Amino acid sequence: MNVVGLTTSHEVYIASKERKFRINELILIEDPNQGPVIGEVSETFSYNRYIPFSLNHDFFDVKVVESLKRLGYSIDEEEINVAKVKLMTETTYPIVTGSKARIPDFLEVKDILVRGSKEDGLVIGEIKHTEETAQTMEEELKGLFYILNKGKTEKTKSVPFILDLRSFQQYPHIGIFGGSGSGKSFGMRVIMEELMKKGIPSIILDPHYEMDFSTSSDIGERPDFSDCYQKFQIGEDIGVEFSALTTRDLLDLLSAVKPLTEAMSSAIEILFKRGDSYASFSSRVEDLCEALEMGKAKLDKMLALEGIKEIEKEKYRRLRELVEEYSNIPLPSVQGISWRLKRLYYSGIFSHDINPVIRALKSGKLSVIQGPIWLLQVFATYILSSLYRKRRDYKDGELRGEKNFEYFPPFVVATDEAHNFAPKGYDAPSKGIIKEIAQEGRKYGVFLVLATQRPTLLDETVTAQLNTKIIFRTVRGNDISTLMEETDLSSEEAKRLPYLPSGDAFVSTPLFGRTIAIRVRYPYSMSPHLKNPFDELIEKNTQELEEYYELIKKELPIYESNLLRVAKNISSQNSKVVMEVNALKNLLEEMVKKGKIKKEISPLGCFYTEA
Ligand SMILES: Nc1ncnc2c1ncn2[C@@H]1O[C@H](COP(=O)(O)OP(=O)(O)O)[C@@H](O)[C@H]1O
Ligand SMILES: [Mg+2]
Repeated sequence: MNVVGLTTSHEVYIASKERKFRINELILIEDPNQGPVIGEVSETFSYNRYIPFSLNHDFFDVKVVESLKRLGYSIDEEEINVAKVKLMTETTYPIVTGSKARIPDFLEVKDILVRGSKEDGLVIGEIKHTEETAQTMEEELKGLFYILNKGKTEKTKSVPFILDLRSFQQYPHIGIFGGSGSGKSFGMRVIMEELMKKGIPSIILDPHYEMDFSTSSDIGERPDFSDCYQKFQIGEDIGVEFSALTTRDLLDLLSAVKPLTEAMSSAIEILFKRGDSYASFSSRVEDLCEALEMGKAKLDKMLALEGIKEIEKEKYRRLRELVEEYSNIPLPSVQGISWRLKRLYYSGIFSHDINPVIRALKSGKLSVIQGPIWLLQVFATYILSSLYRKRRDYKDGELRGEKNFEYFPPFVVATDEAHNFAPKGYDAPSKGIIKEIAQEGRKYGVFLVLATQRPTLLDETVTAQLNTKIIFRTVRGNDISTLMEETDLSSEEAKRLPYLPSGDAFVSTPLFGRTIAIRVRYPYSMSPHLKNPFDELIEKNTQELEEYYELIKKELPIYESNLLRVAKNISSQNSKVVMEVNALKNLLEEMVKKGKIKKEISPLGCFYTEA
C-alpha cells in the first residue's frame, strides 16, 4: 500500500495490488518527514487494463500512472485498487508520494474511534469497516453485542460505537433521521434498551404502539427488561388532573383536539377559573350554550310565565345571569369549546393523573406513553411541561440554596414522528415545550431523542439543537439537503445516503468531530408487531387444524362410506360445532396433506387413520 500521484496536505490517493479498499476505513500513512498520519477512505476505485485511462476517473491522469509504474505496479497486467483518503488533520506539508500506508493498530486510532467506556456510554452499534483494527483491540471491548447481516445474527467483530453519557451535559440531544424502513425504530429501540440498562429515567411517546420490550429477538443472551419499563395508556392508566390545570394548559389541551379560533381562546380565558373541576367548568360551558341559544328575550319570557316550577325558575335565573355576564361571547365559540371538551372527556383523560409516570421516572425506569396520535399530542404537551417544570423548579431551587424542593431526577424524552410534535412553519401545542427543552434542557439535565422521517418538516430551531444526528437511508432530495446543512456530512457521504442498507447510518456528532459510519446493533427485544403477517396466518391455521384434530381423534379410523354418521356424531357431541359431510372430507384431506393422519385403502374402501 502506497501513496500515489499528486498529494495535498489534506487528501491523498493510495494504491494496493492485494487489498481492496472500503469506504470509511481508517488508513495510517507513514510519511517519512511528518510521522504517522491517519486518514479515512472517502472514495474507492479499481483499475485494470480493460479500462482505458481516458474513461476512468479524472484523477487517473498520466502522472498517477507514472507514479504507479515507478512504485513497481505493473498496470498492464494486474488489477490495482485505489482509494481517495481524507486526512483527519491537515498536515503542514503535502504527504510524500510513495509513502507506505497500512491499516492502523487499535491503539494508534483508539482516540479517534472510542470516546467513552462501555460502562458510561450507550453502546449503539459497530463502526463500519474496522474489523482488522478491532483485532488488536482490548478484550473487554470485543464482541459486546450482535449484528444482523444478510439474515444472520453474529457477534460483532468491529470496534463498538459508544455515545458517552457524560458528554450529554455538553451535547445533550439526539436526532434520528431516515426514510421509512431505514432502521429508525430499531435505532430508537437500541437507545431505549441502553438507557434501561443504565437505569436512566426516560419517557417515550409511542404513537405506533411498538415500544414493548418483553418479546426477545432471536439472539441467545439478553438482559431482562421486564422491571426496567412500564407502559401507560392515556385515558386508562394516566391522564390529566383537571383541577391542577392553568388556563394555558387548558388552551393547549383543547387546541390539540382541533385548533381554537381567537374568539374561542378568549372565551376560554374568560370562562375558566383557576381551580375549576371538570364538572364545574363543563357545566358552566353547557349552561352558557343553552342560555345563548335561548337568548335574553326568551329567558325573560320564561321567567315571567305564571305557574312555572321554582326549580325551573331557578335554572332560568341562572341562565339569565350567564347571558348577562358573558353577553359578548358568541354562541359558536361556546359550542366549539363544548365539543372539544367532550371529546377530551370521553377519551378518559380527565379520570387519571401523571403520578404513575412520576413514580416510574423516580425509580429510573422507562415510561412508554401510548395513545392515538391526536391524544398523544394533547397529552405530550401537558406531561412534558409538568415534568420539565418539576425538574426545573428543583434545579433552580437547588441553585438558590433552597432545600424544600422535592427531588426530581434528570430525564430523557424520546419520540418518533417528531415532526408532528414540533412542526416547522405552523404551530402545534407541543412545539413550545419541545423547543424549550431543545434550547434549555441541557442546563437542567433534560435530554431529547427525536426521530423523524422528514427532517425538512421538523422545526429548524429544534433540528439545530440536536447535536448528535444519526442519519439512516434518506432518499428525498430536500431531506438530504436539510441534513447536509445541519451536519458535517460530506457530499460523498450524502451521495451514499439513498443506498444505505437498513440499519446502517452516518453519525454526525461534535463529540467525535467527524461523521462516522456505523451499523446499529441488533436489538435484544423486538416490536410486538414485527411478526410477518403470513407467518401469523399459517400459525393460526395450524392451530385451528389442531383443534379439529382433537374433535375427530376419537372417531378414527373413519371410513369414507361412513362420513355422514361421523359428521353427525361430531356435531351432536360438541354443542358449538356443526359439521357437514363435505367440510369433514376437506378437513380430513387437509390433515392427510399436513401428515397429521393418513389415508389407506382396504377391501371396504378408503379410510383415514392415525398417522
Ligand atoms: N440495526 C439493524 N440491524 C438489522 N436489521 C435492521 C436494523 N435496523 C433495521 N433493520 C431492518 O429494517 C427493517 C425496518 O427497520 P425499522 O427500524 O422498522 O425502520 P423505520 O422505523 O425507519 O421505518 C427492520 O424490520 C429490520 O428488518
Ligand atoms: Mg418506524
